[in-house]
Amino acid sequence: MTFRTIIEPFRIHSVEPIRLTSVEERRDALRAASYNVFSLRAADVMIDLLTDSGTGAMSRDQWAAIQHGDESYAGSPSWELFRESVQSLFPFRHVIPTHQGRAAEKILFSVLGGPGKVIPSNTHFDTTRANIEFTGAEGVDLVIPEGRDPQSLHPFKGNMDIDALEALIAERGAANIPVIMLTVTNNSGGGQPVSLANVRAVSEVAHRHGIPFFLDACRYAENAWFIREREEGQQDRNVADIVREMASYADGMTISAKKDPMGNIGGWLALNDDAVAQEARNLLILTEGFPTYGGLAGRDLEALAVGIRESVSHDYLQYRIRSTAYLGEALHASGIPVVRPIGGHAVYIDAKALLPHIPPKQYPGQSLAVALYEEGGIRGCEIGTVMFGLHPDGTEHEAAMELVRLAIPRRTYTQSHIDYVIEVCRAVATRADALRGFRITEQPRALRHFTAKFEPLA
Ligand code: F0G
Repeated sequence: MTFRTIIEPFRIHSVEPIRLTSVEERRDALRAASYNVFSLRAADVMIDLLTDSGTGAMSRDQWAAIQHGDESYAGSPSWELFRESVQSLFPFRHVIPTHQGRAAEKILFSVLGGPGKVIPSNTHFDTTRANIEFTGAEGVDLVIPEGRDPQSLHPFKGNMDIDALEALIAERGAANIPVIMLTVTNNSGGGQPVSLANVRAVSEVAHRHGIPFFLDACRYAENAWFIREREEGQQDRNVADIVREMASYADGMTISAKKDPMGNIGGWLALNDDAVAQEARNLLILTEGFPTYGGLAGRDLEALAVGIRESVSHDYLQYRIRSTAYLGEALHASGIPVVRPIGGHAVYIDAKALLPHIPPKQYPGQSLAVALYEEGGIRGCEIGTVMFGLHPDGTEHEAAMELVRLAIPRRTYTQSHIDYVIEVCRAVATRADALRGFRITEQPRALRHFTAKFEPLA
């Protein structure tokens, strides 16, 4: 007998209280935060879906491992455990620990980037692109066309467009492309997976042109689970084997260990090239720390060594992917427009479709994010014109999509929390016509979404 209900494959061992707030309290909090959900006090948020990064629950075994942490400056046994755990899935010759993903990116692109260089990906995450551009290089997103269409039901909407990649190499020259990246799953494109066939194809193109190929592997386990579920011939495989196969096509990786590796902090750069690794380690010592701890304490390395093993558990991944889909499918069934198929770590509501009366430059995503907080204390994140609209020359442009991301922290919320989120979203959708746009009253010149101040339009 198989049952329909997929239970959380854990019991709760220690709890964090959620303070229940009233609509009036939340209205006050919004005013005090100038309607920017990043400025809310987390204690005033009931269900925090701002990010899945570093916000997951560690397991009993991870907390136990923390006690085992060895804080030796050099050559700590915690480092050896960490390196072995990383290499059990990603057997690259060099493993370079960092305090989070962007530190690994900063180091990699400091070595490989520079003016005149072009670095393609399916879609670069914001910090990846920013670190590429900071060196004077250019980041290019080459996801397949289905990956830009919120309604396309392609099973691997994170795939790279191989023809576009070949065309870019022909146009710019392999010598100007120091690395090809592939983000698994494709966070900025809706948490959509990349197929094993596509990883192999990107690798083949890269290596035919003598270009190194790196994964941005933050959500490797979720991606591998989708491969197991959706790709022909993969159904009987172990997820750890699929991850190892993905890694086998690459020459290296960057990762934020705050995602699938179940850390509250951490990241790493791993690669095979000895000369690049040497340069990267020199930069690591300059900015992060000694190569056997990088930016982390011994206890963090221990927690990650355990988290990496837990990340590829089939019981966990079945629950993880199913529970995200549960939220997304319920919203879809209620007539709330969401990006489909539902991704691994988040549900993306299409605010442009839900609030067609609010033009992009009055920020429909912001309006929806504010309404979700006001209605039910839920914090999501606008991914639209607020986040991407302000260009370096000071002009404002509409973003391609106006989304609100509800990212699900790992092992943190139960089904009743998610049922509540569904109810709140439905309540907001019912009064969608009455939601108003916003205007920005104060903003910095870059990355404005974090600190901008807003005012509701009359
Ligand atoms: N790459 C991807 C695909 C990411 O999603 C992130 C972070 C990073 C790199 C950077 O890692 O935060 O540890 O420095 N994404 C978070 C998010 C912040 O909310 O999606 P980091």
